Amino acid sequence: MSKKKTYNRVARLYDLFDLPFEYGRYRPIRRHMFNGLAGRILDAGVGTGRNIPFYPEGSDVTGIDLSHAMLARAELRRDRLRKRVELLEMNVLETSFADGHFDATVATFLFCVLEPEHQLPALKELARITRPGGEVRVLEYAYSKKPAKRLIMRLWAPWVRWVYGAAFDRDTERYVADAGLEVVEFRFLFQDIIKLLILKHPESADSTVVWPSNP
Ligand SMILES: C[S@@+](CC[C@H](N)C(=O)[O-])C[C@H]1O[C@@H](n2cnc3c(N)ncnc32)[C@H](O)[C@@H]1O
Repeated sequence: MSKKKTYNRVARLYDLFDLPFEYGRYRPIRRHMFNGLAGRILDAGVGTGRNIPFYPEGSDVTGIDLSHAMLARAELRRDRLRKRVELLEMNVLETSFADGHFDATVATFLFCVLEPEHQLPALKELARITRPGGEVRVLEYAYSKKPAKRLIMRLWAPWVRWVYGAAFDRDTERYVADAGLEVVEFRFLFQDIIKLLILKHPESADSTVVWPSNP
């Protein structure tokens, strides 16, 4: 099933299914994803708009998503929160934005959903539309290195695949150099299973890369 169909199907129940994780894990992380960002920001794979409460005051945010049903939920949340956010139905693999249009691009749990062959094209597209010096921030799942936790994740994986078309093994950092970007920060924000990548164009990247320490 295509991702569009998958998310049009799950949209109605998405927030309900995610509720324990949203309040148990994601909320503090979402705040972190937008810390220090300003200007024009893209929320790629905006989903039901769970990031909306954390968009920086005064910023100009555009959210894109492949699924109209997920966007409809995001619109309701945006209106309820009285935020000014542009929401567009668009594929991250081929957006209509000009080169360097955004000061920063953010993708939370989008790369776990993209198939391996789409990881590089998606990262390249985010690199293209983010201005030199601007940050590309990616948040995604990884398999735990701890055997018990890893086993639980392996048992969960078929459900996650079926409901969300997602996987825990995406390893997006493999594609960073080929996308013309450089890692400026890589660390785990929840145990050793939810990781943050902050990427920049090499000419503008800070040379002090922070690699993950033991969570
Ligand atoms: C797991 S959800 C994450 C939603 C949101 N970012 C969050 O943190 O709650 C992934 C979202 O990415 C969207 N998506 C999947 N493939 C996409 C693509 N190629 N372009 C744009 N959005 C896509 C899905 O429709 C879905 O809304």
